[in-house]
Amino acid sequence: MARSKSVFVCQNCGAESPKWIGRCPSCGEWNTYHEEIITPVSSRNSSMVSGGEKKKPELLSNISSDEKKRLRTGISELDRILGGGMVAGSLILIGGEPGVGKSTLALQLALSLKETTILYVSGEESEEQISLRAKRLQLSNPGCYILCETNLDNILTHSENLKPGLIIIDSIQTVSTDMLESSAGSVSQLRECSALLLKYSKTRGIPVFLIGHITKDGTLAGPKVLEHIVDVVLYFEGDNNYVYRILRSAKNRFGSTSEIGIFEMLGSGLREVINPSGLFINQHDEPLSGITIAATVDGLRPFLIETQALVSSAVYGTPQRSATGFDTRRLNMLLAILEKRAGFRLAVKDVFLNIAGGIKVNDPAIDLAIVSSVLSSSLDIPVSGEVCFAGETGLSGEIRPVSRIEQRIREASKMGFRKIYLSKYHRNPSVKGIDIEIVPLAKIEHLVKALFA
Ligand code: TYD
Ligand code: MG
Repeated sequence: MARSKSVFVCQNCGAESPKWIGRCPSCGEWNTYHEEIITPVSSRNSSMVSGGEKKKPELLSNISSDEKKRLRTGISELDRILGGGMVAGSLILIGGEPGVGKSTLALQLALSLKETTILYVSGEESEEQISLRAKRLQLSNPGCYILCETNLDNILTHSENLKPGLIIIDSIQTVSTDMLESSAGSVSQLRECSALLLKYSKTRGIPVFLIGHITKDGTLAGPKVLEHIVDVVLYFEGDNNYVYRILRSAKNRFGSTSEIGIFEMLGSGLREVINPSGLFINQHDEPLSGITIAATVDGLRPFLIETQALVSSAVYGTPQRSATGFDTRRLNMLLAILEKRAGFRLAVKDVFLNIAGGIKVNDPAIDLAIVSSVLSSSLDIPVSGEVCFAGETGLSGEIRPVSRIEQRIREASKMGFRKIYLSKYHRNPSVKGIDIEIVPLAKIEHLVKALFA
């Protein structure tokens, strides 16, 4: 038997070194090297996942791609993200902050697939906890097996006996294999366990759903290698103080990554939100200054969001700029544009910006709504609740066209808005059969005139 050797592995990027180093030369992080014992491949017992006979090259034209082999999850928002269901033999990884609802989504998935045998493996919760959660969800599935186990070799043995149609593992950071001596969650365990699961799922044709922890900066814990191995990477995001959760796909070998799924976390689990348009807008009895509505598109779905700004005189020397749900640097840029191009003295003001509903928005098309809400708060003049905005602001104060403008206009009209402000540089912004006034603008100055003249 070959001897085991020990190496030091960076827990951040997966780089290896024969001796301990304080700072990783590859990713620059300090104190991330941990000793891990590596057992050479020859001494590993890999009978469980070996694919049997050796593979021969096959002509591409002779390979049948069976599109029907997708397992519909019964949760339509999840199916949409996956591109129409789970593909047989695929490895799906879902990451998210603690408490966002990953385990809830996984259990809901297990209980929604009534005709399938499910093996739900949990290394984080006890059988009782899972049973309590299932009661709370008010769902039941006679074919759902729960296994509280962290040893991957045992998990695969049970799976061999049970022959499930789907395996769920909560979480990949808690499982470990006996082939390595390092602790669960270490880079080599993550790499080895996910590779074993990949091989198992590919040879048996079973989809495997993995739950992954994420680090402080929002990336999946463990090196990038995990994301390379799996077929689909999903991120579940949302603020724990709000009920809305957004499921995003960062990688999908079997579908588009531009879809998003929207859920609401209720007392009885996650509920799908089919029509998100009106969710993030609050009803106000009278128009309030500093509030505007933006027509945004996330993934392929248009919806309307409320942006709120507060501009007040700075009490201390350096004015504060703070944004929730929006990039603070971009806010600073928009303020500089307003200062320079529209002559507003904002350098001595505190500016606070908030996207209502606890969601994060990256769409540049909400620039126009943000600029308008800052102006509205600064002048203390409300903007009518019947208008909305869709446009990006350029550094010279020009209002630039944005993608999917027809979709935005249609959505705004559907939600009952009377007027939409957008860039005049759209080639053909007229959408037929809708009842909304379209106001094209070329520059920030024109916006100020149009809104507050
Ligand atoms: P959980 O799925 O345990 O999160 P994760 O696995 O991502 O850490 O979700 C935990 C939160 O969800 C918890 O704060 C309570 C809330 N929750 C509900 O609001 N309703 C429910 O029906 C369930 C099961 C959980
Ligand atoms: Mg959990």
